[in-house]
Amino acid sequence: MTRVLVTGGKGFLGRHLVAKLNSQGKQVRVLARGAGNGPRDCDADSVVWADIRDRDAVDRAVEGMDVVVHLVSNFRRGGSDRKEAYGINVDGTMNVMRAAARHGVQRVVHCSTIGVHGNVLEIPANEETPYNPGDLYQETKLQAEQKVWAFHEQTGLPVSVVRPISLMGPGDVRMLKLFRMIQHRRFVMVGGGDVYFQPAYIDDVVHGFCLCMEHPGAVGQAFIIGGQEYVLLRDLVHMIADELGVPAPKYRIPLRPVVMLAGLCEAMCVPLGIEPPIHRRRVSFFQNNRAFSIHKAQKILGFEPEFSLQDAIRLTSQWYRNEGLL
Ligand SMILES: NC(=O)c1ccc[n+]([C@@H]2O[C@H](COP(=O)([O-])OP(=O)(O)OC[C@H]3O[C@@H](n4cnc5c(N)ncnc54)[C@H](OP(=O)(O)O)[C@@H]3O)[C@@H](O)[C@H]2O)c1
Repeated sequence: MTRVLVTGGKGFLGRHLVAKLNSQGKQVRVLARGAGNGPRDCDADSVVWADIRDRDAVDRAVEGMDVVVHLVSNFRRGGSDRKEAYGINVDGTMNVMRAAARHGVQRVVHCSTIGVHGNVLEIPANEETPYNPGDLYQETKLQAEQKVWAFHEQTGLPVSVVRPISLMGPGDVRMLKLFRMIQHRRFVMVGGGDVYFQPAYIDDVVHGFCLCMEHPGAVGQAFIIGGQEYVLLRDLVHMIADELGVPAPKYRIPLRPVVMLAGLCEAMCVPLGIEPPIHRRRVSFFQNNRAFSIHKAQKILGFEPEFSLQDAIRLTSQWYRNEGLL
């Protein structure tokens, strides 16, 4: 039976991946931070409670595993300072890679992000598009990915990298703010809404990870994984409003003052360790073009997304409704 460690297995993507691996009969161990001593609310066979920055604990979690999928990142922390972001995203990743090499792990799938390409100018962008990280999270995710590649070159550790497109689906509360504001007719477009957005349905991304865990052609390669369709942000907002059965939002405010306000909030909150109510990364939702080709994953891995953009919006709204979140 294949033994798989999923770091960050209690996060949004992690829970879905763990459930899938479990349904495939794999033996799954999760690395999660916090206190406790059982799998609790996820489908793992066992949990190692550890901070990814703790090298010895990571080593213990990796020991005995055939495959490691590394998902931990400070993704949801807009208020991270440089030390925390670097420690979790870069040092934490290297703790996982070194432990995997030491214990002879057969395949490591490292989770990067399309954010390493930042605001893309070439539409659609692909894996060869120049890196253009636009914030601390993207910058440290890129540093991590580059260190992973250097380590792969030096040691021959069989690594594959997934760069997921923006995730959507049951369990996610990041997109919830957008859905909720549209539902309650409080959504105001920041700027013209004329940048591209490309959501990826969670099950499709999980499928991409599963392929990278097993496909011989995945080693030494990075893959952009997600749905096929990208739309202008203003069209996405209309599609969500249609699904929710409310009129499409029509109000807009200019981008520049909001960017300035976000910068100010960060400057005041981050040194005090407070999560800023608005930060530049959140505003980048309205600024950055995200439109990507998944051609490489289709060609090499045989990856095909099953869920359309419309499906992703429908299934996500249904989950929000069922959970009473809207
Ligand atoms: N969601 C997206 O749209 C998206 C898009 C592209 C790439 N990604 C990448 O996908 C991966 C998973 O994202 P996600 O959406 O599932 O995020 P998530 O829900 O925040 O999951 C990340 C997990 O990492 C854990 N973690 C954070 N810092 C840790 C530390 N120091 N030690 C141990 N665990 C720690 C978090 O635990 P806590 O709950 O305790 O913080 C959380 O369970 C990340 O690598 C992210 O960069 C996500």
